[in-house]
Amino acid sequence: MKKKILTGDRPTGPLHIGHYVGSLENRIKLQDEYDCYFIIADFQVLTDHLRETERTEHLIKHVLLDWLSVGINPEKSTFFIQSRISEIAELTMLFSMMVSLSRLQRNPTVKEEFRRSGLKSISYGFIGYPVSQAADILIIRPDLVPVGEDQLPHVEQTREIARTFNELFSNVFPIPEPLLGTVSRLPGLDGNKMGKSTNNAIFLSDTAEVVRNKIKGAITDPARIRVNDKGHPEICNVFRYHVAFNNPESAEIETKCKKGRLGCIGCKKIVSDRINEFLEPIRIKRAYYEAKPATIKEAIQDGTKKVRLISNETINLVRDAMHFDYKGLFEEEKIAA
Ligand code: TRP
Repeated sequence: MKKKILTGDRPTGPLHIGHYVGSLENRIKLQDEYDCYFIIADFQVLTDHLRETERTEHLIKHVLLDWLSVGINPEKSTFFIQSRISEIAELTMLFSMMVSLSRLQRNPTVKEEFRRSGLKSISYGFIGYPVSQAADILIIRPDLVPVGEDQLPHVEQTREIARTFNELFSNVFPIPEPLLGTVSRLPGLDGNKMGKSTNNAIFLSDTAEVVRNKIKGAITDPARIRVNDKGHPEICNVFRYHVAFNNPESAEIETKCKKGRLGCIGCKKIVSDRINEFLEPIRIKRAYYEAKPATIKEAIQDGTKKVRLISNETINLVRDAMHFDYKGLFEEEKIAA
């Protein structure tokens, strides 16, 4: 039997090149070797976008197109939607009893997201979403979770919950390992964390012209004013794009920048071209799938159906382990898929 992978995205906006090097690339590579499951975490959107639920369907379609256009293949991998698997909600409630509030309050990613959300107070669901994410993951009982660096606290939380459950009840869950991408944290155009909705991202769906203009406007080494000034690639976000998307030339770029022999405009032009070369086949695939909405629907419907079977199996194991099967009251009856 193949080992299993689970990972996914929140449908809050288009995916960007940071997602690609952080996680999508690993998903594509591992598709043949592993049994892969990719979740669209639509309930998780409610944490900080409770009032914008009318946009979610559109955003889900965008994420599906992003996945397909980078080469995640629904013939090999299983796509599903979190809100369509009610066993995830059930598992979330059970897991919520196995995590302390102070443990949740220490999660650095949640703290950072709450700070950026601009919300006045944090909801029970927002502070607790790592528990729901543990349920997203463990419902599949996977071996590996490919994620960007910001998701490591959630994977660690998931591992703790799995261990606690196994110790308290019985050995239902594997302890899944995180898998980081080649570049685990790509900075945004302004030097902050690249985000879907922070106006500092290069999206996988951007046109060549948009990419060129975005990079033209990117912040670089602030100490560099004239072309011949010596640069500091180690603190420059555009240099990080060279490392990620122009790796073979990046050593040479670094030397030239440090010696003041390559100005920011020239350097940006080169990296724009490389990123556009990388995005071109993705654009072609996107156009192909955009013309085939039936294929997209089929992928998400078939995947969700398949995950219903697995989640039914998991929830029955959990109910048995926790003595919620009530055999004396309901005889052999199991919750049907
Ligand atoms: N929190 C993840 C993000 O913001 C999305 C996500 C939801 C996820 N459920 C998951 C990632 C399960 C990995 C596994 O990108």
